[in-house]
Amino acid sequence: MDTRDIYVTALKNTHALEMQALQIMERQVERLQRYPEMEQALRRHIQETHGQRDRLEEALQGLGDSPSVIKEGFLGFVGNMMALGHTPAQDEILKNAYANHAFENFEIAAYESLLTIGEAAGQQAHATAFQQSLREEQAMAQAVRELIGPTTRRYVELTTSGEKADR
Ligand SMILES: [Fe+2]
Repeated sequence: MDTRDIYVTALKNTHALEMQALQIMERQVERLQRYPEMEQALRRHIQETHGQRDRLEEALQGLGDSPSVIKEGFLGFVGNMMALGHTPAQDEILKNAYANHAFENFEIAAYESLLTIGEAAGQQAHATAFQQSLREEQAMAQAVRELIGPTTRRYVELTTSGEKADR
């Protein structure tokens, strides 16, 4: 395996990660009812994620390759973490908030790594595009972080006033 192969694998893994991101966010967004700020952040990031996915596909096409089917092993950890939020629970919104925070930081690590591998492989054609994706992940991680407090306060308010608070 040479550095080009390592780079192609990283592109495919990151692509699989973004496909999973889309699935997770779309599922959450259609369930959200009482947390409009979280919903808005997710909707915005779904749009950004479409662009991120396209950047990865362009890079793969440029190398004469294409995305592969999602690898269970790679996404197992993330999948387990995200499954937390999909189990019906009174505090679904809180679990999703924690999981989104973890997921965005996972993606930040993936892009830092992808950029480093691209550099090592002398594959710089899409570096600027992936730096853009990295900045978007950092902004979303920050947005989710900042929403933890307000989301929790709203959850407590709704719950203590006997209203539906789960999502
Ligand atoms: Fe993301």
